[in-house]
Amino acid sequence: MDRILVTGGAGFIGSNFVHHLVEHTDARITVLDKLTYAATRESLAALPTDRVELVVGDIADAAAVEPLVAGQDAVVHFAAESHNDNSLSDPAPFVQTNVVGTFTLLEAVRKAGVRFHHISTDEVYGDLELDDPERFTEATPYNPSSPYSSTKAGSDLLVRAWVRSFGVQATISNCSNNYGPWQHIEKFIPRQITNVIDGGRPKLYGAGQNVRDWIHAEDHSSAVLKILTDGRIGETYLIGADGEKNNLEVVQMILAHFGRPEDDFDHVTDRAGHDLRYAIDSTKLRTELGWRPTFANFEKGLADTIEWYVEHADWWRPHKQAIEASYAAKGQ
Ligand code: NAD
Ligand code: TYD
Repeated sequence: MDRILVTGGAGFIGSNFVHHLVEHTDARITVLDKLTYAATRESLAALPTDRVELVVGDIADAAAVEPLVAGQDAVVHFAAESHNDNSLSDPAPFVQTNVVGTFTLLEAVRKAGVRFHHISTDEVYGDLELDDPERFTEATPYNPSSPYSSTKAGSDLLVRAWVRSFGVQATISNCSNNYGPWQHIEKFIPRQITNVIDGGRPKLYGAGQNVRDWIHAEDHSSAVLKILTDGRIGETYLIGADGEKNNLEVVQMILAHFGRPEDDFDHVTDRAGHDLRYAIDSTKLRTELGWRPTFANFEKGLADTIEWYVEHADWWRPHKQAIEASYAAKGQ
């Protein structure tokens, strides 16, 4: 694949993936990104301009999307509204970008006959009980809880229908919670790291018992590239790195890193409809495509990420006060 279009490539995971493509392939990459509040141009700044081009535009704008898609060998689709809490305050952009935007891209790849990989989330499956021995597999029924996860579920179903009805050459991956560099500080791990760096206290929703299955964004990228090159058309692959931790454990690891007491955090108002537990069984990806994560040790990956936020305070600090004010207004 010589030419790859990456939607949402100026966001957290998309930009990590563009770095991964530059390092591990010879492809020329076009990033299509609307540059919403969640995007960071700086995340692409160090990349060679003869390999990576940024086009500012909306994936739901067919007139902008169709000519861009036509010249590509593949489209890898990360662009989305991605934060559950925002979807509870204002679901409209989630429906527009996640559903209408994905529809617009599907029509473009259908017309141009271009390979498509759709990035999705394990949240489409709903949640698990804390003591459930089962984890999500590709066969788990969809049961999304929030406006965010339901719009992602809707986009997955559109992709499946475009494969079956129109023969679009597409694959889908559903990944667990990511952490790593360039993640927006509204999200759980960077919010708590930056609270502690600034001398504040981490904020735990409810009792902090909710479990997330953490994977480093670099491991997500290597899995996506593997599926793009070797995955079977029409298939879904779950991506996860066996990283289950409850939110209290994560907060206490961050506090311990800075030598702060383990109870130096606040319990705040819980999220409405808060999913209890996510957990991924990635056997299909590992056995069929031979993929393995490299950040097997979450504590080490978290420590690297903490150091990254310490070193990149110039990037996040200008936004910190406004984000905390908007959380505080909701009692969070
Ligand atoms: P992010 O919010 O950091 O980045 C999203 C990017 O998409 C931003 O650069 C934004 O400007 C861009 N974008 C938004 N609307 C757009 C539009 N209409 N047109 C063009 N660009 C637009 O998100 P992220 O955390 O990097 O997530 C990327 C993808 O991975 C999403 O599809 C998300 O559902 C999925 N995912 C995320 C996680 C996670 O833990 N963050 C886990 C599994 C799957
Ligand atoms: P988040 O990063 O928003 O990801 P997701 O909703 O996709 O799982 O949140 C991860 C977990 O952390 C989730 O259980 C909600 C919780 N959380 C807090 O406890 N405090 C916070 O300040 C935030 C943002 C999230």
